[in-house]
Amino acid sequence: MARSTTRTSRNTSKDLLTIASLSSQHIAALIKQAQSLQGKRRARRTPRPLVGKTLGLIFEKPSTRTRVSFEAGMNQLGGQSLFLDSEKIQLSRGESLADTAQVLSRYVDGLVVRTFDQTTLEDWATYATIPVINGLTDQCHPCQILADLFTITRKKKRLKGLKLAYIGDGNNVTHSLLEAGALMGMHVSVGCPTGYEPDQKIVDWAQEKALKTKTRIEVTSDPIAAVRNADVLYTDVWISMGQEREQKRRLKALTPYQVNERLLRKAKADAIVMHCLPAHRGEEISTGVLDGPQAVVLEQAENRLDMQNAILINWLGK
Ligand code: CP
Ligand code: NVA
Repeated sequence: MARSTTRTSRNTSKDLLTIASLSSQHIAALIKQAQSLQGKRRARRTPRPLVGKTLGLIFEKPSTRTRVSFEAGMNQLGGQSLFLDSEKIQLSRGESLADTAQVLSRYVDGLVVRTFDQTTLEDWATYATIPVINGLTDQCHPCQILADLFTITRKKKRLKGLKLAYIGDGNNVTHSLLEAGALMGMHVSVGCPTGYEPDQKIVDWAQEKALKTKTRIEVTSDPIAAVRNADVLYTDVWISMGQEREQKRRLKALTPYQVNERLLRKAKADAIVMHCLPAHRGEEISTGVLDGPQAVVLEQAENRLDMQNAILINWLGK
């Protein structure tokens, strides 16, 4: 088992920008380390390998889970965090990203960035000399999905050979799930309306990878076909941050893709229901399913903490 205070692998790249940039071995090691850290945290014996380290968080979108779990985690590991609302730093008055990244690199030991374009995140990684961790972009949400792999492993005791059905909008969460499934040998079936499919480039990447891991990656407009035989049913909001102007159109197109009792009955009887939260009850998921016995969403949220503590040790530790 990975030692809880050391890096799981020597070949960690400076930044954590996507799931696709990780190896399956590294992901498996992170899951083991998260498990070990969770045991220690629950016994109030969290190690403190990050004493003297500071994490900066630059957020251009709202957040509850990502912000608080990273801040609390940094504190538990002996370090400190600084939340930097992008509206309150000079970036909002025209200071360049390049200058900001270089200056911050002289003060803090790592940055979590939540922004819109993946290319903006890549710019942070280029100009910062410290690790940059993706706290969500329009393209992907790797920390969420690494934590979700940990949750699925806890619940189902494996990843390989499971079927995950993602129902709804093909968004940032979908993209990271596709990458993760392809790498870890978990079948991913996306059920979404025409026009709301995940990015074809990411689907292509996942399908190519899936040939090696003998995994099925598919996209269909039939939610029932997607859900059939699923071990995990996953959904996310229909209107992601930044898409508020498309609300009316999205609600109309996505209504047949609600995860509700009727759809859940088509999955395996012991399927778990996941949602990264925040949820909109009555839109992408019914109240009964979200609050029902098959939903694991609160544990899913808690597991962010332990997976991200593993990430912090790996990317910010010695
Ligand atoms: N799931 C997730 O990333 O939640 P927040 O937007 O609250 O961080
Ligand atoms: N797809 C959602 C995820 C929120 C955690 C969004 O980007 O708003």
